[in-house]
Amino acid sequence: MKFRKRIIAGNWKMNKTVSEAVELSAAIRHELAECNDVDVVLCPPFTAIAAVAESLEGTTISYGAQNMHWESSGAFTGEISPFMLRGLYCHYVILGHSERRTYFGETDEIVNRKAQAALAATLRPIVCVGETLEQRESGDHIGVVSAQVHASLAGISGADLKKTVIAYEPVWAIGTGLTASPEQAQEMHACIRKEIAVLCSQEAADAVRIQYGGSMKPSNAAELLEQPDIDGGLIGGASLEARSFVELVKIARERN
Ligand code: PGA
Repeated sequence: MKFRKRIIAGNWKMNKTVSEAVELSAAIRHELAECNDVDVVLCPPFTAIAAVAESLEGTTISYGAQNMHWESSGAFTGEISPFMLRGLYCHYVILGHSERRTYFGETDEIVNRKAQAALAATLRPIVCVGETLEQRESGDHIGVVSAQVHASLAGISGADLKKTVIAYEPVWAIGTGLTASPEQAQEMHACIRKEIAVLCSQEAADAVRIQYGGSMKPSNAAELLEQPDIDGGLIGGASLEARSFVELVKIARERN
């Protein structure tokens, strides 16, 4: 099996003013400034990206956005383009989060356009997929997520897939305190990897990093990160406090 560097990313969602964001990133920086063995990524709201970037200068901690438009510029009031994010030296962008899909109508086709645009702008997309509770209960979860992976990543080359991160986030586990069991998560991660092999190549499947997301916290992270196909976490609630986020990175480090 190929070595995949673990990746822990904080999705701050619509939280933190600029000053609160700087305070949080400074506290994380204090603990993790020289973390080389795990990729650490902070995704503040757009308004705080520049200030967080400045506070992370000179560290190995990366940062990114939570969404973007696929066009490079134009009449799209309220939107942000990939090149604007590159202009802030962002490394990553979260795409197709279930909250974007549910509240803002994002489809797999939109996510695919965004992923292609991100890669063209040398941003690394974190593409989110996941089933609802209803889909899991009806036994459709594997089919639903496989279809999301296919449609969201269609047409992306092997070289670009290696730069892409996939986040498996069961919708029923996001912000609910419910977590997929390590077995449930591993089963889905293995299926996602298999889909990448079908979609592209075994080489790309071996290289792509797949994060788990959905109520991941220090008390449940170790058993999830021990699974062979779980390469990290996309963290919501537990990324809003330095202590729990730093603890999660440390747990990931110990499992390298
Ligand atoms: P949560 O959110 O950790 O609060 O469940 C994860 C996410 O939505 O990315």
